[in-house]
Amino acid sequence: MQSRHLRSERLRSPRLPLEERLADEARFIKRWLDNPKVTGAVSPSGRFLARAMASYVDPDADGPIIELGPGTGPVTEALLARGIAQERLILVEFDPSFCKLLAQRFPKARIVQGDAYRLAETLTPVLKEQAACIVSSLPLLTRPERGRLNLLRDAFGLMRQNAPFIQFTYGLTSPIPLTSRLSGLHFRAEALHSVWLNLPPARVWVYRAGQAPVLATDPRPSREDWLDRLKQRAMKKGRELQLEFEGRFEQPLRRAQRKRAPALALLRRLGDNGKGRR
Ligand SMILES: C[S@@+](CC[C@H](N)C(=O)[O-])C[C@H]1O[C@@H](n2cnc3c(N)ncnc32)[C@H](O)[C@@H]1O
Repeated sequence: MQSRHLRSERLRSPRLPLEERLADEARFIKRWLDNPKVTGAVSPSGRFLARAMASYVDPDADGPIIELGPGTGPVTEALLARGIAQERLILVEFDPSFCKLLAQRFPKARIVQGDAYRLAETLTPVLKEQAACIVSSLPLLTRPERGRLNLLRDAFGLMRQNAPFIQFTYGLTSPIPLTSRLSGLHFRAEALHSVWLNLPPARVWVYRAGQAPVLATDPRPSREDWLDRLKQRAMKKGRELQLEFEGRFEQPLRRAQRKRAPALALLRRLGDNGKGRR
């Protein structure tokens, strides 16, 4: 069922033009150089990961949909492609320049510039009803365990019963520590989706409040498997970029050269004739 969703969203999901994607890459690298721990990645998530995240959102569930750490908006785009109205989105982003960009790209969404790790404090003045779900791209692994557990506790307090907290990670294990000993927090964790087509490969986890075991429907990859696939994907991405550049720049260049060829040949001939007369 989920793969059918992903396929139909592939058809609907528009890709940003290459120039904008490159500009987003540049923005990300700049933000990462300024503050690597907050930005958490050197480039925006790829569309496969964004789609995988959005596929766990039920568009028919009541209430607003909260996105934490939207950055330049790839996951936000995937949520729209999933059929979620912009008006339902509350985007919580720390970085003011990303907030400005998000306001231009998603003018009907509510953008909250603030600290997602103080979620209750940041969202209580904004939230009028309980949320349908929370989709997070926060770089959790750069935070202490207690901070991550507090985030999840706050998130459960702001959402409807059994609503999902959807999170991706580049790590091999759950980014939320799977022990309630630290906080007395009870939750169910599911490792659902490995996205090998992302660079680096990522995994989507879904957390729900309540007493329940940890589930892993997607078996944990071995380190060797992970590195091997990372290498394959890097090579594939390189080939794709090369083809895209060739399509964009090399072909028009060759066409222009072909157009100029008769004029150049004429100039050459005139030059040769001139030499002959001297
Ligand atoms: C790994 S990036 C993900 C960006 C985007 N969602 C994507 O998938 O490409 C993490 C994002 O979280 C934001 N962020 C980090 N700490 C934050 C915080 N405390 N509150 C809100 N946003 C935060 C960063 O500015 C960045 O945009």
